[in-house]
Amino acid sequence: LDNGLLRQPPMGWLTWQRFRCVTNCQEDPDTCISENLIRTQAQLLVQGGYLAAGYEYIIIDDCWLSTARAPNGSLQPDSKRFPSGIRALADYVHSLGLKLGIYEDYGTETCGGYPGSLGHLEQDAKTFADWTVDYLKLDGCYADIKDFDTGYPAMEHALNATGFPIAFSCSWPAYQEFSKMKPNYTAIAQTCNLWRNWDDIDDSWESVYTILQWFGDNQDRLSPFHGPGHWNDPDMIVVGNYGLSPGQSRAQMALWSIMAAPLILSVDLRTISSWARDIILNKNLIAINQDPLGAMGRRILQLNDHVEIWSKPLLDDRVAFVALYPEPYGTPIHLSVNLTDLGLIRYQDYNFFESFYGSFLGKYHYTDKYNFTINPSGDVHAFYVESATPRKRFHK
Ligand code: GLA
Repeated sequence: LDNGLLRQPPMGWLTWQRFRCVTNCQEDPDTCISENLIRTQAQLLVQGGYLAAGYEYIIIDDCWLSTARAPNGSLQPDSKRFPSGIRALADYVHSLGLKLGIYEDYGTETCGGYPGSLGHLEQDAKTFADWTVDYLKLDGCYADIKDFDTGYPAMEHALNATGFPIAFSCSWPAYQEFSKMKPNYTAIAQTCNLWRNWDDIDDSWESVYTILQWFGDNQDRLSPFHGPGHWNDPDMIVVGNYGLSPGQSRAQMALWSIMAAPLILSVDLRTISSWARDIILNKNLIAINQDPLGAMGRRILQLNDHVEIWSKPLLDDRVAFVALYPEPYGTPIHLSVNLTDLGLIRYQDYNFFESFYGSFLGKYHYTDKYNFTINPSGDVHAFYVESATPRKRFHK
């Protein structure tokens, strides 16, 4: 969507994966969806250095609404859990230097059963603008998915008409892909700043890996529509929760960076371990993710033992790579790949750097092989290369 927003993949934090639809604040006072939770996590986004690293959106997912609209038909938050209202919460979040996101649904109800926007698109867009909400995730439960091709553009129109800049996250293609409909990605990229394409992520390596494979299998269809202002979204970063090992956490962060995916965390920042925090805040990976070209990385090689190599072109002819070894067979695997098979044919010589630490790995001629090792069970070797010889091998 060409509204000037999200020229780089969005970075932020979202309630859903970690906090779901916990609404009983008596039983779960610290984790229920409430203004207290948002305020606390917002403070930690700042204090923990996440905002400084680029994570600027704090997004309330489903289950913030009251079960009924106000008498004038406008949306209202649950008054027990959000006693100060959304505008006050937005003011607070803004005072910290963050931006506020919120969730609604195109249909009659949200996926969690709260009032949907159908029949109220304009009114709800105005409400969000009045509240100074900076980001809307519009889901697609309880709706006819055939209506999305007109309904999501109608909401974009309504948001645009408010005059308040609101980034627009759509679930339009996800529901259509599930129903084997062919989403109109040209229209989607014109209407939305980002869009969920596929399944909900959850807190497991299986979920992360399955989503990654879906994006690899469909990359030819998806990557042409990916770029500044319009992003495919493989769903949240689940690093820091209960499900992923350190290696698998490194893998998700590295691969989401290679895909130029939105980096939307969903983790309790009060209890996150320091190793998980270090992965999430890794400067080099974030720079790869946020590279101004905005290219969606691609799975370029599939080798033995399900090793796969992904690559993403970066500004100034640099290229980032991630090699993933998903198998659980004990020992690290040793690999040897021709530079030409990595697509490194343009220059005579390349300098290789490890991506997590930025350490120099060596200089290679384009006819060489690159040898490396990956630990098993879903770990990665991440590296990037730049030309060591300014001279190109081919001249146009
Ligand atoms: C759908 C979405 C999730 C989340 C839930 C909330 O499943 O895909 O990301 O927003 O609804 O109910």
